[in-house]
Amino acid sequence: MASTQRKAIVTGAASGIGRATMERLIAEGVEVLAVDIDGERLKNRPSSGCEVFVADLADPAQRVKLAAAANDFDYLVNAAGLLRVKPILEVTVEDWRTIQTVNAEAVFFLCQQIGPRLNPGGAIVNLSSSAAKLATSVDVAPYAASKTTILSITRSFAYALADRPVRVNAICPGIVETEMQERFLEGVARRRGVTAAELDAQRKKAVPLGRGASAAECAGLIWFLLSDESAYMTGQAINFTGGLVNW
Ligand SMILES: NC(=O)c1ccc[n+]([C@@H]2O[C@H](COP(=O)([O-])OP(=O)(O)OC[C@H]3O[C@@H](n4cnc5c(N)ncnc54)[C@H](O)[C@@H]3O)[C@@H](O)[C@H]2O)c1
Repeated sequence: MASTQRKAIVTGAASGIGRATMERLIAEGVEVLAVDIDGERLKNRPSSGCEVFVADLADPAQRVKLAAAANDFDYLVNAAGLLRVKPILEVTVEDWRTIQTVNAEAVFFLCQQIGPRLNPGGAIVNLSSSAAKLATSVDVAPYAASKTTILSITRSFAYALADRPVRVNAICPGIVETEMQERFLEGVARRRGVTAAELDAQRKKAVPLGRGASAAECAGLIWFLLSDESAYMTGQAINFTGGLVNW
């Protein structure tokens, strides 16, 4: 019999959105299995409500081990992700494969291996991006392609798991203040001959709300999509862009 204690697997939990999601879930009384490749940073975790699982999610064998440990869970948040800034004409096969493996393949197979075993009433949230919808991603083309793939993966598993029912939704953040965002700004600014601060200001000017979001704000949307407050939502891709993207 399933226990009444709700339990979540959060990937990418050592940093940024994954970490903020772990913290929000613990605050909501959910027990978290925090997964990341960065075991050192996972050591710095809340003292209760959280176990860690160090895994390279690009490795199929390590994903299988994680799935085997996923008994009696309610939620899965796929927040682990990789971004490389590189002009589209210089992208190599290795760049393409590395990004797709972490950002798309791992998400697909974690949904496949863990999704059907989540407790009925459970939910999955996959981290896509506004890059899946905007045509301004020439410097991060494999990343944008992987995030577009996540939208399709989300719809497919939403149908596949609806009978259980386990709901599957994606979110499409624009600018969230994390280390990935800093790496993006540094990489693109270098290419464009401006400073990261100048590029940051330019990008935020285009956002109707005029700012980026905190990782904690993003975790709030993720919690909404996991919780019963969104019990009638599945297969959706929710923009989280301060109004920049509206379709
Ligand atoms: N920050 C943003 O503005 C933004 C915007 C849109 C989408 N996203 C997406 O949100 C998610 C979280 O991004 P973030 O900004 O918090 O990034 P981040 O770089 O701060 O955190 C990503 C985490 O994923 C982990 N990770 C990377 N490769 C891994 C692997 N092979 N196995 C296990 N863990 C691995 C990293 O160690 C890191 O802890 C990503 O999927 C990202 O693409 C972020």
